[in-house]
Amino acid sequence: MGADLTDISAVPRTVDWVEGRLRLIDQNALPDRLAMVDLTTWQAARNAIADMTVRGAPAIGCTAALGMALAAHGYSALQPAQFVQAVSAAAADIRSARPTAVNLMWAVDRIAAVVAASPTPAEGAARAEAAAVAMLAEDVAANVAMGRYGAELLPDEGSVLTHCNAGALATVGYGTALGVIRAAVAMGKAIHVYSDETRPRLQGMRLTTWELQRDGIPVTAITDSMAAVLMRQGRIACVVVGADRVAANGDAANKIGTYAAAVAAHHHGVPFYVAAPLSTVDMALPTGDGIPIEERDPAEVTCIAGVRLAPEGVPAWNPSFDVTPAALIAAIITGQGVVRPPFGPGLARLAGRAAAQGGAS
Ligand code: MRU
Repeated sequence: MGADLTDISAVPRTVDWVEGRLRLIDQNALPDRLAMVDLTTWQAARNAIADMTVRGAPAIGCTAALGMALAAHGYSALQPAQFVQAVSAAAADIRSARPTAVNLMWAVDRIAAVVAASPTPAEGAARAEAAAVAMLAEDVAANVAMGRYGAELLPDEGSVLTHCNAGALATVGYGTALGVIRAAVAMGKAIHVYSDETRPRLQGMRLTTWELQRDGIPVTAITDSMAAVLMRQGRIACVVVGADRVAANGDAANKIGTYAAAVAAHHHGVPFYVAAPLSTVDMALPTGDGIPIEERDPAEVTCIAGVRLAPEGVPAWNPSFDVTPAALIAAIITGQGVVRPPFGPGLARLAGRAAAQGGAS
């Protein structure tokens, strides 16, 4: 392993701000092509979230923040009252792009508050941009901190299962669950990763394997249905996943199929870890029952890469996320430290600390 796995400068940031433009890695083109898209309007930023050009809770949040900056710049020639009205309308629309990842709402509200507190439209646009750009560095710092805390939980040697993609591609860089794995490898641990393919959109197969292969971290792709038997055979030391929203009691929403992996892990006595920044923790929701679950186009289930596999006209159900009950989670790894069950008091303490520091880690 030659690469310094804490150095993320060699790969483009998943979300970036370059000369007044929002630059994204086009995740719908991976793994075939590493392509960048540059966006100049808040509507384009919103669409990129909705069509999953950018995906993963922290990456969605940072894109939304920069989308708000684009809105503030775009409307900065308006009179103050119209400016505030136009930016608020943009905020409402960006917020509605996807319902489950709370980072989206958290980021929009954070930039909206900066705009509202600004004395003039021009100043509002400048401050919105500065605040949104600062969130990119904050995100990377939170991931690196999560990696440091979480790496301690991984074995010195062994296989880790992950589901979906909670890597550099799901964040600005480095990753949450994959950040933990990167940090463990950087510490000298001999980690091999099993990556669930993650039907229907195949984020594990397309994105997680791509990232880990680039880093030289050994990875084996499996279909989602193969994870339980690996656990039964004693071949999984632990499971590490990300989250889109964590309720105050520790119930965690993540990509559909995460719950099945958690049930299997519990049955086989395999520790199940969730790595998420505090911007993913929704202290307003007492339990995961209140987490809105996105339902996407049924064609994502009946088709793969545009090829229909089911007979024409067969209905399909396509919930994009599920909720893993806190009782199945051994620890939640945040940028402020590791929380163990019962999660309520620990999450409240760390969320309060992050709020006092003015950010989210
Ligand atoms: O539908 P996606 O690809 O946006 O779903 C992403 C996930 O479920 C990730 O695991 C989650 O956002 C955590 S990313 C650090």
